Amino acid sequence: MLNIDPLAQAHSDRLFAVIQQHIVDAGGKIPFADYMQLCLYTPGLGYYSAGNQKFGQYGDFTTAPEISPLFSQTLARHIQDVRQQLTEFNLLEFGAGSGKMAGDILLQLEKDGALPDHYYIIEASADLQYRQRQYLEQHLPNLFEKVIWLDQLPEQFVGVIVANEVCDAMPIHRLHFDQATWHECYVTIDDGVLQWADGPISNEALKQRSDLISRDDSQVDYFAEVNLAAEGWVASLADCLQQGAIFIIDYGHDRGSYYHPQRSQGTLMCYYQHQGHDNPLIFPGLQDITSHVEFTALAEMAQSCGLDVEGFQTQADFLLAGGITELLADPSSNGVTLDTFQQTTAIKRLTLPSEMGESFKVLTLTKDLPELLPRLRLADRRYSL
Ligand SMILES: C[S@@+](CC[C@H](N)C(=O)[O-])C[C@H]1O[C@@H](n2cnc3c(N)ncnc32)[C@H](O)[C@@H]1O
Repeated sequence: MLNIDPLAQAHSDRLFAVIQQHIVDAGGKIPFADYMQLCLYTPGLGYYSAGNQKFGQYGDFTTAPEISPLFSQTLARHIQDVRQQLTEFNLLEFGAGSGKMAGDILLQLEKDGALPDHYYIIEASADLQYRQRQYLEQHLPNLFEKVIWLDQLPEQFVGVIVANEVCDAMPIHRLHFDQATWHECYVTIDDGVLQWADGPISNEALKQRSDLISRDDSQVDYFAEVNLAAEGWVASLADCLQQGAIFIIDYGHDRGSYYHPQRSQGTLMCYYQHQGHDNPLIFPGLQDITSHVEFTALAEMAQSCGLDVEGFQTQADFLLAGGITELLADPSSNGVTLDTFQQTTAIKRLTLPSEMGESFKVLTLTKDLPELLPRLRLADRRYSL
């Protein structure tokens, strides 16, 4: 049993009251997607909106850019492949977390003489925006003026868009197959405690998606997630990108593997102080809630909106194609302060199949690029989408 600090408990109780009000206003239950949105993004109270440390050793989880700058330096090489084909070059990062990835990409591009005109950030959390500003102002004072925070997508954008572990933090709808029927998972309150409740599927897009998940009628208690928010987000990126590329990096699978009969409990996970579990109804506001990404849905949406699906690789193949091991061998990559042993350990964490190498994927979408991006041909898995 976890011990919760009394201040943290009081914070969670305040968010509980907000959630309770939403449930009452909705007549007794809300779709899980609404609950997840409230838990993560209620201003001042949601997990990402409030002021706790989230990333790294003293937070709840560690992301690739926090493990080693080599991750962002390698991504910068892929970015430069796109830059070579553009006449204008800007960068746009979604959900920049601590600001570390932005900082390391900018430092690498500066070193390579390939800086963008601007590095835009769109960040859902006001608290994280503040932390990003502080981090970048302190660590990159000479490049800080390049960084601009936006509240919404620009109408038109030429350049490269990057998003690491952003789709997994978008609210998902949860479906439950039982008694030969699909239900949607809602959240209700019973006796003062948050509880699951099945209900009718709340919108047409979800109904259509459930038809694509083939189930044997005898199957009981099969759960699956649908991330309509991420699909809408890809459509909005397609709308604003005039020319360039989008790198979407996250843990996830192609559709066949995502909705595999054996994955019967879905992919919903929670993290509290580096402990993973599968109950999002406890500690509202104190824990991260996340689900794996169904990449086929993102690729289909991209294609239907006029983007080219240019690559789908494991994180390991993407980083190896980007030359992560050359960066390690290159003594001039001395912006990195870790010694060789630590760097080697970091590369293992980022690329080994038993660590992040296989479970994380990179989906690359492009628009109007005159040439293919050769690094994306290494172990390309688009056939699986
Ligand atoms: C799991 S964290 C990843 C942070 C960072 N990219 C990293 O790799 O360390 C998810 C981030 O995405 C942000 N986020 C989620 N949905 C977003 C959206 N629709 N627009 C912008 N930021 C979003 C969160 O506030 C948070 O900064």
